[in-house]
Amino acid sequence: MLPPHGGKLVNREPKSPRTKEHLQKKAETLHTITLKPGEVKHLQNIAHGSYSPLTGFMGKNDLNKVVKDKTLEDGTVWTVPIVLDVSQEKAEELENERQVALLDEENRYIGILDLEEIYTVDKTEAAEGLFGTTEEDHPGVVNFLDRDEYFIGGPIKLIRSGFEKFYKYLLKPVETRVLFKTKGWKKVVGFQTRNVPHRGHEYLQKSALEVVDGILIHPKIGEKKVGDWQDKIILESYDILLDHYYLKDHAVMSIFPADMFYMGPREAVFDAIVRKNYGCTHFIVGRDHAGVGDYYGDFDAHKIFDQLADIDIEPLTFDYAYWCKKCGQMVTDKTCPHSMEDRIAPSGTKIRSLVKEGDIPPKEIMRSEVAAFVANSPSPFVQEV
Ligand code: ADX
Repeated sequence: MLPPHGGKLVNREPKSPRTKEHLQKKAETLHTITLKPGEVKHLQNIAHGSYSPLTGFMGKNDLNKVVKDKTLEDGTVWTVPIVLDVSQEKAEELENERQVALLDEENRYIGILDLEEIYTVDKTEAAEGLFGTTEEDHPGVVNFLDRDEYFIGGPIKLIRSGFEKFYKYLLKPVETRVLFKTKGWKKVVGFQTRNVPHRGHEYLQKSALEVVDGILIHPKIGEKKVGDWQDKIILESYDILLDHYYLKDHAVMSIFPADMFYMGPREAVFDAIVRKNYGCTHFIVGRDHAGVGDYYGDFDAHKIFDQLADIDIEPLTFDYAYWCKKCGQMVTDKTCPHSMEDRIAPSGTKIRSLVKEGDIPPKEIMRSEVAAFVANSPSPFVQEV
C-alpha cells in the first residue's frame, strides 16, 4: 500500500483513556482559544493523520512556503493553508504561554496546542498567491481575508473529536487502510465531491474502476456556500446510487470532514494528498475541480500535477463528460465524434436550478432514483442564516 505523505501516518489522538483524562485536566489549567467549525475539523484531521505529515497548525515559514512554492518549509509538496487565527487581544494574552487549550463552540476541550509561534502575514498578498485573486466575489478569498490578524502555530494533541455529524460515515485513514487491505484492493481510486451524483460523476468513477480494484467515494463534508447541496442530501443520494448501481466489493463511501477552500488546482493537489493518506493510489480530477465561478480554467487542476514534484498518488484526469444523444451514452471529446448540439452537459448548476424550479432532472444527466430523491427533498440546499 502507498505510504502516507511524508512517509508516516501522523497520530495525535490520546493513546488511552488515561492519557485523555490527563490531557483534559491539563487543558483545564490553560488559557483557551475557541476554534471555528473549519478549524475543529482541521484539528481532527491533523490528529487522525489525514493531513500527514502535518502534526499541528502551520507556522509562518510553512505558510509562506505554501503560498510561494506550494511546499512546506522542508520541501514536501503542500498547497493549502492549515492555519489557526486569533485576535490581537488573544495574541497578547498568549504571549508568554507555552501551551493553549482548544475549545469547540460548545466549550468542550478538544485539544492542546504547543504554542511555538504567534505571527502575522500580509493576508492580501497570501490570498493573491493562494487563490490567484483577491476579489471579494470569491468565497474562499472572503473566508481567508475575514480571518483575524494573528496566527498561531505548533503541534497539537487531540482530546476528543469536535465534529460528530454523520459519524456513521466516518472512517479514519488508519481504518480505510485496513478496509482496503481486507477487501484485497491494491489499487484504490479516491473521488472527491461536494455535489449530489450526476451521470458525469458516475462515468468518471466507473471509467476509473475499470483500471483499479476499488473506489473510495469521499465527499467533503462541512461549511459550504449558500445554494450548495446540504451534506445530508449528498450522502443520502450517494447511498441510493451505490445501492442501485455499484458493487459492494468495489465501492465504499466515507466522509472527509472539511470545508471547501474553493482553491481550484491547489485544492485538487490537497485533495489528492489527503486521499493518499487514506490509502488511495489514484485520484480522479475532472473538469473545474474545486473551482468556483470562472476563477480557474476548466483543466488547470490537471496541469498543476505536472508543475510539482511527484506526490506518488496518480491523478486520473478526465475531460468534460457529457451525455451524447447519438451515442446513447456518456462520452468525452476523446470518445465521441458528435457535435455539442447532440450532447447534454450534466452541469451541477443546471441540476440545481432544475430542482429549484420544482423539476426532476432528466435521466440523461441524473439517475432517476437520485433525481426523484433530490427533487422530493424538502430543503436540499444550504440556506442563508
Ligand atoms: S468538486 O469541487 O469536488 O471538484 P464536484 O463534486 O462537482 O466538485 O466534482 C467532483 C469531481 O468530478 C471533480 O474532480 C470534478 O472535476 C469532476 N467533474 C464534475 N462534473 C464533471 C463533468 N461533467 N465532466 C468531467 N468531470 C466532472
